[in-house]
Amino acid sequence: MDKLLILNGSPRALRSNSQKFIEMMTPHLGCEWEECFLFTQNHREICDKVKEYSDVLFVFPLYVDSLPCCVLEFLDCLCQNLPDSRPTVHLMINCGFLETEQNSIAIKTLQFFCKKYGFPFGSCLSIGSGEAILTPPFDMLFKLNLKKLAKSIKNSAPLTLSIALPISKERFVAESEKFWLRAGEKNGLTKEQMQSPNIE
Ligand SMILES: Cc1cc2nc3c(=O)[nH]c(=O)nc-3n(C[C@H](O)[C@H](O)[C@H](O)COP(=O)(O)O)c2cc1C
Repeated sequence: MDKLLILNGSPRALRSNSQKFIEMMTPHLGCEWEECFLFTQNHREICDKVKEYSDVLFVFPLYVDSLPCCVLEFLDCLCQNLPDSRPTVHLMINCGFLETEQNSIAIKTLQFFCKKYGFPFGSCLSIGSGEAILTPPFDMLFKLNLKKLAKSIKNSAPLTLSIALPISKERFVAESEKFWLRAGEKNGLTKEQMQSPNIE
């Protein structure tokens, strides 16, 4: 691998978990890289940049079992402005639920795009429990997977990785409820208000 373009496809951009994961992974890359934000930057300009890179890493969250809208819009723009030489595409995807399988359809969607438009598909890191994966002591396991992903991209040695909190579903649900109740309380919201359809 020569030069890496990282595309952050989270609508939360700089405040996203995707951004935290990128910042933790890039020190292990040992190569030239640049990051662009699909939510805030001009898609056509990014499409023009793609040809300058040997590799592209998409980093985005799972939204409603699919790719966030800004990623879909970017792919739409990219297939209308295809570069002559296609970089290898890699993916780091994270979802809120515990199971990494939740990400499967979104991963297949990107792989299908790559196959259809002639982009080689490289490595993939599928992350479950993305909101909580940095909770110590389990963050060590996650950091190891970030390093493996960086190394596989750098060495052009594709890997398929997945990581989630190593806890039971029951414990995950109980801990999540406590987390969101505390977050609601900080914002002056009760459990009943958060469960109501008027929460938005
Ligand atoms: C509108 C919306 C839809 C979401 N849909 C899903 C989903 O279908 N499955 C899931 O596991 N998590 C879902 N999540 C949770 C996000 O994937 C999760 O919070 C992720 O860590 C956000 O990453 P980011 O901070 O990089 O954007 C959704 C979050 C939002 C805001």
